[in-house]
Amino acid sequence: MQQWDMGLYTRFLLPKIVDFTCGTKPCMRQRAKIVPFALGSVLEVGFGSGLNLPFYDKAKVRRVWALDPSGELWGMAGERVRGARFPVEFLKAAAEEIPLPDRSADTVLVTFTLCTVPDVSRTLREIARVLKPGGELLFSEHGLAPDEDVRRWQNRLNPIWSAFGGGCNLNRPIPSLLEEGGFRMREISSMYIPGWRPASFTYWGRASVA
Ligand SMILES: C[S@@+](CC[C@H](N)C(=O)[O-])C[C@H]1O[C@@H](n2cnc3c(N)ncnc32)[C@H](O)[C@@H]1O
Repeated sequence: MQQWDMGLYTRFLLPKIVDFTCGTKPCMRQRAKIVPFALGSVLEVGFGSGLNLPFYDKAKVRRVWALDPSGELWGMAGERVRGARFPVEFLKAAAEEIPLPDRSADTVLVTFTLCTVPDVSRTLREIARVLKPGGELLFSEHGLAPDEDVRRWQNRLNPIWSAFGGGCNLNRPIPSLLEEGGFRMREISSMYIPGWRPASFTYWGRASVA
């Protein structure tokens, strides 16, 4: 694709594809498993089109900082943001440089985003920096599958998938990335959620700074 075509694709088509694919039933079921644990001041990293908003427990959440570099996706979140019963503030920024002071968030939430951020270890350092002591990182992320045949396809298809998927990677080893990034698992589960197997092996749980 020509460079200008790719620019138009990223700006106009990709946000709709992201909203659609992240809004499928299996992904929405994943949100219900972890988002209700969020409490206090919450930083959502890779906020996208706001699909997690309906799953927050409004009795426990004081505010949400909605961090994402994409103004297009934020624009698609309008109705969900207006329906929220707590303030939602957009931070147009990258996870590698979170514009919040140290120890400002009680909870950090990431769903289907660690697959996409260009620099995972910098992102995790930033998340650890902004979490308050005792705070929790909640995650639901697709990643490297345990089965050799699926992994082979994940590795083979990753370059083309990533080029058309806004930088999404099929084959990131989520648990070891979190551990190497200085997090200790409090709870972790994994399974193939319904869907195309190379993109459906999903890890979810709760972690804290080790
Ligand atoms: C697959 S979407 C998931 C969106 C949302 N978290 C969800 O669960 O529906 C990946 C998200 O990561 C965001 N993203 C890409 N690069 C990023 C970065 N460097 N920092 C933070 N978010 C990023 C994209 O804009 C997009 O919203």
